[in-house]
Amino acid sequence: MIAVFDSGIGGLSVLRELLALLPHEHYLYYADTAWCPYGEKPREVIKDRARHITSLLLEQGADIIVVACNTATAAAISTLREEFPGTAFVGIEPAVKPAALASKSAVIGVLATAGTLHGGNYLDLRDKYCDKVKIVEHVGKGFVELVEKGMLSGPVAEATVRESLHPLLEAGADTLVLGCTHYPFLSDTIRAIAGPEVRIINPAPAVARQVLRLYKPHEDGNCDSKPCVKLMTSGDISALESMYRKLIG
Ligand code: DGL
Repeated sequence: MIAVFDSGIGGLSVLRELLALLPHEHYLYYADTAWCPYGEKPREVIKDRARHITSLLLEQGADIIVVACNTATAAAISTLREEFPGTAFVGIEPAVKPAALASKSAVIGVLATAGTLHGGNYLDLRDKYCDKVKIVEHVGKGFVELVEKGMLSGPVAEATVRESLHPLLEAGADTLVLGCTHYPFLSDTIRAIAGPEVRIINPAPAVARQVLRLYKPHEDGNCDSKPCVKLMTSGDISALESMYRKLIG
């Protein structure tokens, strides 16, 4: 079984890609909604949540764990790999490399949470590519809250997105990296503001391909026709179920 977790419903953007690639698997999705957002929380708090969730997912029979959260990957994935050595983990981080390769203006914009932008992995990535392209960063302020409320478009979403996109577009970014798994659900609003010329990079499909490389599907017990997805949350399960129907169908 493939287990996926995030601070909330953002990881559904990764689950959506997994379902497209491995449609007959069993999935368990855990939304840590009672602790959402992770973005500005201390590293140690996120590590504790990641440990707790990992133990729970393993108890439920997870064979592989997808940390479908850039912030949790930055804060906790190395600790998880140390403390659960028999478990395969796949994390997610801002797709700086494909953005740097794709950019024609040599300016890329990275939208992510504060926790991701201050994390060691991201700082290393930035160091590696900053002599090839100018990298401009901004926290997607209020984006996670919008997505958690299901406000993916409309005047409030537009105003919120515009505020964080403005400095990146002003700096000449022609490629935007969505460095938080919640943000792809705002893609239409981001696209409407950024315009058709700007490339938007969502690393979720690459994460799904990495799971496909590492995961050995079970011969028996697979779902025959439609995917089997079990939802769990530290918050309200009916709210998660209705967001799942809205975002994934
Ligand atoms: N979806 C998460 C990420 O990819 C976390 C957002 C949050 O909880 O602040 O970073």
